[in-house]
Amino acid sequence: MNFVKTTDYDAMSRKAAHIIASQVILKPDCVLGLATGSTPIGAYAELTRMYEAGDLDFSRVHTANLDEYVGLSHDHDQSYHYFMNLHLFSKVGLTADQVNLPDGTAKDAKAECIRYDQTIRALGGVDLQLLGLGHNGHIGFNEPADDFPAGTHLVDLTESTIQANSRLFEKKEDVPRQALTMGIQTIMSAKKILVVVSGADKAPIVKEAFFGPITPRVPASILQLHPDVTIVGDAAAFSQTDL
Ligand code: GLP
Repeated sequence: MNFVKTTDYDAMSRKAAHIIASQVILKPDCVLGLATGSTPIGAYAELTRMYEAGDLDFSRVHTANLDEYVGLSHDHDQSYHYFMNLHLFSKVGLTADQVNLPDGTAKDAKAECIRYDQTIRALGGVDLQLLGLGHNGHIGFNEPADDFPAGTHLVDLTESTIQANSRLFEKKEDVPRQALTMGIQTIMSAKKILVVVSGADKAPIVKEAFFGPITPRVPASILQLHPDVTIVGDAAAFSQTDL
């Protein structure tokens, strides 16, 4: 694994954006795997800045997001459709035919998961997958479990994830209990993986996931087996490691 340590959140965001930008410059028709959560917001803002300066062109890029809540309409302000549109798609000219997310409003979740995996395969797979890291080690919404799930699937969110994400909803009862997420195999099939981590609250899980044993109880630990992973984190997130 390649670790890049930065002084703070803004430097982390710039570094992550530069890595994503290099991918787009080197392969203008690439497939970017994208993530939500608060951590990548700065990187998306930096990509927007590069686009506005005329340094980046997304016109041939396709995207595939990791996950989506079940039951939230696409215009709900906490849906990941809304988030991506707000922070990136609308800012860099990515149009509906270029972007892909699991559809959390689909009547048949199982069929939707199959459709989503087929969509990613039809795109030729993900070139660069961006990931955040949950406090319990989840990536996408792959929660701690007894096995590593393979493809896109329906998950019951754990209490700690519901709790963590409740800060974004009016009340905890409003947080969806389920989500659709790319599976571990889908994520591990990406050619390159970029993880962004920030803040002292992530320090214990950064240590456990990337320096501890590989176990489905800490889903992100599987990334240790991927041949091309870069973890960009600020000093606070790396504070419990020797980096
Ligand atoms: C959410 C998302 C994940 C994200 C994680 C961490 O539950 N499904 O993709 O990585 O939380 O979020 P944050 O970056 O806000 O800490």
